[in-house]
Amino acid sequence: MSLRTDIDGKRVLLLGACGVLGRRHAAILAEHGARLAIADRPGSDVMALAAELGAHGIEIDATDEAAMVAGVAAAVGALGGLDGAIFNAAVTGEALARQGGDPFPPFEEYPLSLWQTTMDVNLTGAFLFAREAGRALKAQGGGSLINVASIYGIVGPDHRIYDGQPFKSFPGYAASKAGLIGLTRWLATWWAESQVRVNSVSPGGVYNGHDARFAEAYGNRTPMGRMADKDEITGILIYLLSDSSRYCTGQNFAIDGGLTAW
Ligand SMILES: NC(=O)c1ccc[n+]([C@@H]2O[C@H](COP(=O)([O-])OP(=O)(O)OC[C@H]3O[C@@H](n4cnc5c(N)ncnc54)[C@H](O)[C@@H]3O)[C@@H](O)[C@H]2O)c1
Repeated sequence: MSLRTDIDGKRVLLLGACGVLGRRHAAILAEHGARLAIADRPGSDVMALAAELGAHGIEIDATDEAAMVAGVAAAVGALGGLDGAIFNAAVTGEALARQGGDPFPPFEEYPLSLWQTTMDVNLTGAFLFAREAGRALKAQGGGSLINVASIYGIVGPDHRIYDGQPFKSFPGYAASKAGLIGLTRWLATWWAESQVRVNSVSPGGVYNGHDARFAEAYGNRTPMGRMADKDEITGILIYLLSDSSRYCTGQNFAIDGGLTAW
């Protein structure tokens, strides 16, 4: 019998389930038979989304150590163990733009507080999640931990395409995502003999009703000539959660229409 490529019955915790991509990941993983615990910050609609998907819903603020410890334990308890865990939460440019204020000051005047807010969620949150979920995976003999990074953890942004847009690329984002790829490699070699596989996924820009000028400018940066569709990122998660990726650890998968290939 060959290795299974499906995720039917896999017990998976997804943190950061209520955003643009998280909602699609949750729905598609559920559609493929995963038994899901989904988490997002207090104030999100995670409990309603969980009810809709037949998943376990948990409120976790990724920056709160006690909430992470309790939340991951609750997921493991609800699912009766864990086969996979995905850290998808982040402070993103579009979320910052929606918050208003002046979230994209020039770097020369960039406030430490904004830098730290980003690091607290995107990198320290990932550290807390990896520690808690990874320990649970190790205790039961292995599993798959996936960190969602970004192309901007691999290559620098072309700042020109953000001219006139309400959102920009910002420094803590790139630094935290590069750090997350580094954390992924460190953990992969730390846990390799425990059969806990650790990989990262780096999506390119995903179309979410952007104006035509941005979509075209971004698309021109990619060999495939377009932004990603929301449903085009989850496939790599399915692969990494399935038994067919059993020999795969410490890798970063760019799902980016070829952007990082040229
Ligand atoms: N959408 C893209 O174009 C794109 C491109 C590259 C990488 N990514 C990455 O993919 C992931 C999902 O992106 P998205 O576009 O869906 O972003 P999004 O902003 O729509 O979703 C991010 C999610 O993280 C959650 N979150 C934020 N702070 C949190 C906290 N303190 N505790 C718990 N949850 C918290 C939000 O509530 C939200 O549900 C992110 O890691 C992002 O960096 C997205």
